[in-house]
Amino acid sequence: MKLCPPASLAAAPNSSMQPAQANDEAMPPAAPQREAKTAAPGALAAEDACPHAGKSPSAQYDATVAELGAPRFDDHIPLARPWLGQAECNAVREVLESGWISQGPRVAAFEAALAQFVGAAHAVATNAATSALHLALVVAGVRPGDEVICPATTCMATANAICHAGGVPVFADVDPHTFNLDPHSASRAVGPATRAILLVHQIGQPADLTAFEELCAAKGLLLIEDAATALGARYRGRYIGSHGRPTCFSFHPRKVITTGEGGMLVVGSATAAERARALRATGADISDLRRHHARGMLQQSYHEVGYNYRLTDIQAAIGLVQLARLPEMLRLRREQAAYYHQLFDGWSTLQVPQVAPGAEPCWSSYCVKLLAGAASRRDEIGVRLAGEGISCRRGIPPLYREPCFAWRNDPPLPGAEEVARSTLFLPIFPGLQPSDQRRVAAALHRALHC
Ligand SMILES: Cc1ncc(COP(=O)(O)O)c(C=O)c1O
Repeated sequence: MKLCPPASLAAAPNSSMQPAQANDEAMPPAAPQREAKTAAPGALAAEDACPHAGKSPSAQYDATVAELGAPRFDDHIPLARPWLGQAECNAVREVLESGWISQGPRVAAFEAALAQFVGAAHAVATNAATSALHLALVVAGVRPGDEVICPATTCMATANAICHAGGVPVFADVDPHTFNLDPHSASRAVGPATRAILLVHQIGQPADLTAFEELCAAKGLLLIEDAATALGARYRGRYIGSHGRPTCFSFHPRKVITTGEGGMLVVGSATAAERARALRATGADISDLRRHHARGMLQQSYHEVGYNYRLTDIQAAIGLVQLARLPEMLRLRREQAAYYHQLFDGWSTLQVPQVAPGAEPCWSSYCVKLLAGAASRRDEIGVRLAGEGISCRRGIPPLYREPCFAWRNDPPLPGAEEVARSTLFLPIFPGLQPSDQRRVAAALHRALHC
């Protein structure tokens, strides 16, 4: 597989990003020109302009930070920071004033808007991606005792959801360059009890959907997509979530858009969507909204034991504003990824994120791989960055090493071990400035060469 660095995204279809400037100096190259902001759908007011840089956090926030002795945002570069503005505040106020704050009309509108954005037939909002994944597995047909293959390198929530559905997670290896599930390793993991593959689009980069479609067709398996971090990412020109399969997104604040907590299941089948809607709301076959609008009295029935996985209208109102910001957020993230790549150009100690053919990441994270001797100093390098007021995170340890799975004694997987050992997540979020990115690069350069 031929991989390419993120600067190639400048030529991505429909990308509004400016091509990265040539880097003829060792460090630091010129900052990318920030384009004038295009009006996002939903017509956000001027005071909603991003980024936050230069804006003082609220007094309450300052007080809390001072109390904790934590660094202030003024001189601290966080790993992630959501873009929230006056429009979100107004939207929440409207919900509070409407008197309907639980799952209701805003949730329905958020579902419709997200389905339209990604090109899905149906969307079912939930209180987290974990619960969306649980519902996805159940409505797809995973039954208690079924084995479900997933990558060893992923958020624990992926495996949790399989267990919630009564399934058994089977960990397969990841490609050490893209960090996504390796189709060959997944194929080797298929056994008589395998029912499904839960394919994760890792840290915003689409996995090789074609390879997994072929594998699942050949072996008679269900394919379900964990796109918790991949809203706005595209595979071969189509948004993740548009392929008709159960696909789940997260709206945790470290993701591309946020509702505080929240998730969404998109699905092609109307029957699956209807079942998921009932299961998320105690199993009731009639929603509160439908009962409210009914003339006369509607009485719900419970055909299955359900859950309370409902999103609130307060969160959905935030989500609707965030969705309107999404095109601009994606543009900024693409621009930031390309600028990091430019800053790190020619560094022999570090590999920038590698993009697989046909994949257009949404850059929910920017994860570099430290090479050779630098990898063995990864944790120390992270501590040095933290000492300079720059947040970063180590790569994800393989799930088979976590205490809740360690008793199984799964054999170590080389790709997952390499990713866990050598990767470092760097700050990326809409308000990150080119000057912040130069500060990150300079601090990283010092840490690598001290
Ligand atoms: C791959 C993956 N799946 C699932 C989740 C769980 O998302 P949530 O926190 O919305 O339940 C996450 C969260 O980080 C994730 O990265």
